[in-house]
Amino acid sequence: MSLLKHHAKIETNALFLTVGIFLTVIIGGIVEIVPLFTIESTIEKVEGVRPYTPLELAGRNIYVREGCYNCHSQMVRPFRDEMERYGHYSLAAESMYDHPFQWASKRTGPDLARVGGKYSNDWHRRHLINPRDVVPESIMPGYPHLLRDALAFPDAAAHMKTLELVGVPYSKIDGAYDNAVADFEAQANPDADHTALLARYPKAVVGDFDGQPGTITEMDALIAYLQVLGTMVDFTQFDPAKANAIR
Ligand code: HEC
Repeated sequence: MSLLKHHAKIETNALFLTVGIFLTVIIGGIVEIVPLFTIESTIEKVEGVRPYTPLELAGRNIYVREGCYNCHSQMVRPFRDEMERYGHYSLAAESMYDHPFQWASKRTGPDLARVGGKYSNDWHRRHLINPRDVVPESIMPGYPHLLRDALAFPDAAAHMKTLELVGVPYSKIDGAYDNAVADFEAQANPDADHTALLARYPKAVVGDFDGQPGTITEMDALIAYLQVLGTMVDFTQFDPAKANAIR
């Protein structure tokens, strides 16, 4: 009862009320903001997440250029139906090197966050040339032009350096810049020596992607990118409690 009495006093006095609101907001703000200063990052570090290879990066640029994000999201939400369809929910760390990220919310087509390894390179090639050849009811447009021109990536290192400016740690990968063009070419060449490439970029899918082993096309790059999506983290080993503890 006495509390209510005091409350009436504060409510009917503009100065008390203003000071009261001010104090409440300050305390609430401190409680929310201060803990963020004591952690190094709001994204947990997760074993396996690495920057894209030069070929995957070229493929990602093509994905963005072609506007695939207009129909495809890349974020599995932590709901049972999504996890049963696509796999483990997406971790923030899995897109920490994506600039810009491709989460999105428009799903005319399925989510692609975990499409890597789901289909063969040959399936992707046929699907991208004409989706109806493999999925008869598909409404996805075809992208046969991706096979048309040979693709070179002479400024791969410049792209990587630009990404480093916004936090992608290519300089921590031994030889990433000096070998950018060589790595680009080796990944799409089934006969190349892939040892150095795989040491720099573990789990990179190597080989011929577009059915033309002699030439690198935009199709090679795009499929290399699709094949790595969602495969960097080994979810049989992943423990969310531990990931949060690393910080
Ligand atoms: C107009 C909307 C639209 C656009 C644009 C589009 N897609 Fe699709 N995509 C779909 C639909 C619908 C499906 C489901 C039917 C199918 O598999 O073809 C699909 C399926 C897919 C699948 C198979 C996914 C799975 O899990 O089965 C992949 C991979 C894919 N798209 C990649 C791409 C890429 C890469 C691009 C850009 C070059 C692209 N899509 C552009 C609508 C679209």
